[in-house]
Amino acid sequence: MKILYFTATGNSLYLAKMIGGELLSIPQLIREGRYEIEDEEIGIVFPTYNGDMPEIVEDYLDFAELKCDYLFALTTYGSTPSLVLNRICKFLITKGIQVNYTNGVRMTSNHARYFDMEMAKKYRNPHESEDIAQILSDIENHVDNRYVTTDTGFESAERFKTKLLVNNETCNQCTICTLVCPTLNIYIDIDDNELKFFDECEPCFACLHACPQNSIHLPVQVSDSHYINPHIKLGEIIRSNRQL
Ligand SMILES: Cc1cc2nc3c(=O)[nH]c(=O)nc-3n(C[C@H](O)[C@H](O)[C@H](O)COP(=O)(O)O)c2cc1C
Ligand code: SF4
Ligand code: SF4
Repeated sequence: MKILYFTATGNSLYLAKMIGGELLSIPQLIREGRYEIEDEEIGIVFPTYNGDMPEIVEDYLDFAELKCDYLFALTTYGSTPSLVLNRICKFLITKGIQVNYTNGVRMTSNHARYFDMEMAKKYRNPHESEDIAQILSDIENHVDNRYVTTDTGFESAERFKTKLLVNNETCNQCTICTLVCPTLNIYIDIDDNELKFFDECEPCFACLHACPQNSIHLPVQVSDSHYINPHIKLGEIIRSNRQL
């Protein structure tokens, strides 16, 4: 079994690890130009972004050639996956790829625009382990339930786009944010001696949550608290996303 995954703060990586098999990070597959994936079972695991797939996942799937007997798509989300699972099925159908099974697991929301992470951690799904166990059992039994509608959700998802701000007074140029960024969007301008962003932001908030100096912010943010899945180490997020 091969699992193609994308993660910014570890929730989807944790789910991917619980499913097992060979884990393949989508940003690394893009970096390597590896689009042909073949196995008996293939899974795609990703966070819900505004009721849709992250753009980086869609960009990869646009060119991916997935050959398998059983394909499943799993999302992690903070409050509602909306229609993301229907969207990924419909998107893949246009590529001639049929999804056999979809499901989602509610975890802590990392959406710093709307949630205080300390509050979000408390609002954690008490049934997370049971939900994951159910998915494991379903996959083992090759349950086929494509086109599951998880809820009514919003019909047309619009991607959340925002500028990120950096406080160059507090930033100590440790470069952690440049390592967790899946799109190589952050660099240190050595002439200006400042951290800067290009214009290729998902946004996924990996940099914001990983910054040890709390130097990366959204223009509007509920609180300064940060989140990384408690089962995942920062190094695993770097290994998943680094493009350097
Ligand atoms: C830009 C953005 C948009 C998001 N949109 C949603 C959403 O529509 N519904 C939801 O339940 N959670 C949403 N979230 C929360 C994430 O889906 C959730 O925290 C996910 O588990 C994060 O996975 P990761 O830790 O693997 O990055 C959003 C997060 C971000 C950064
Ligand atoms: S992680 Fe934070 S402190 Fe480190 S370089 Fe990035 S913004 Fe600066
Ligand atoms: S700049 Fe930050 S939010 Fe944007 S893609 Fe990179 S890590 Fe994600």
